[in-house]
Amino acid sequence: EDVIREELGSLHGIPLYKCFIEGWPQVEAFQARPDDLLIATYPKSGTTWLSEILDMIYHDGNVEKCRRDAIFNRVPFLEMKVPEMLSGVELLEKTLSPRLVKTHLPVQLLPTSFWDKNCKVIYMARNPKDVVISYYYFYQMAKLHPDPGTLNEFLETFMAAGVGHIPLAYGSWYEHVRGWWEKRQEKQLLYLFYEDMKKDPQQEVQKILRFLGKEVAEGTVARILHHTSFQEMRKNPAANYETMPTAFMDHSLSPFLRKGISGDWKNHFTVAQNEHFDRHYREHMEGSDLHFQMEV
Ligand code: PPS
Repeated sequence: EDVIREELGSLHGIPLYKCFIEGWPQVEAFQARPDDLLIATYPKSGTTWLSEILDMIYHDGNVEKCRRDAIFNRVPFLEMKVPEMLSGVELLEKTLSPRLVKTHLPVQLLPTSFWDKNCKVIYMARNPKDVVISYYYFYQMAKLHPDPGTLNEFLETFMAAGVGHIPLAYGSWYEHVRGWWEKRQEKQLLYLFYEDMKKDPQQEVQKILRFLGKEVAEGTVARILHHTSFQEMRKNPAANYETMPTAFMDHSLSPFLRKGISGDWKNHFTVAQNEHFDRHYREHMEGSDLHFQMEV
């Protein structure tokens, strides 16, 4: 019953799971609704955390309502299509408005309907060193991925954006974070950072509330922060992916909510790997006004 680990395909030059590519015509034709809120991220950048925060905001901090279903059903994953599950698009068609929509697509591949309908977007970015470590563990536990090889090989893969021998699902982190960063000028787009959310979640939740034009009762923000803390989410079956079929995810290899900290890369990178990574990072972020904190 296991999903066979297979090589990725290519969608307009972006490495992606072959089953997702099969579903692409439906994604491309997706009809957004004006009150859809899009949660966009490069993988492993805090998508699930942000999704839980937004579902709590949408339900006025009602914890029981936010346990109604698994996070991957409450916030459908737009381009997701795997055998024997409803696709993201099918799930979204059955979802009542206002909908929360998750995507990892790079900005140039987002279905145009989101722009045509002027939907609000919240993007969350995370520093690349923690992303690559989190992704390395995810490649092992989420069986859609090919074998990631050694950490050193995977670091090379990440820096080469998957043009090496191990493909990198969703392609270049650099292009992803920069592409979405540029969009914030012209669109209703709130660009957040995982590291800021770690450091001061209350401030970031207030930013989100302002962006949405929502006010919540006193005490609600505190309830949201408590319910969406790493410790609470980790033990919440509706948030921790434990209900995902084991054919797709094996939590015994690595839990989905693994560590939830900033700076875990320090426990993994050698000094030489770090120097190499820094050099590569500097070259690829040169001239950008987008800056990352590598720890908090
Ligand atoms: S996915 O598969 O791309 O949607 O994964 P994503 O949710 O973006 O990223 C998973 C990482 O986010 C961490 N996480 C959290 N950190 C802090 N607080 C909370 N509440 C939280 N929820 C999820 C999760 O642990 C993964 O990071 P790592 O570094 O692997 O622990």
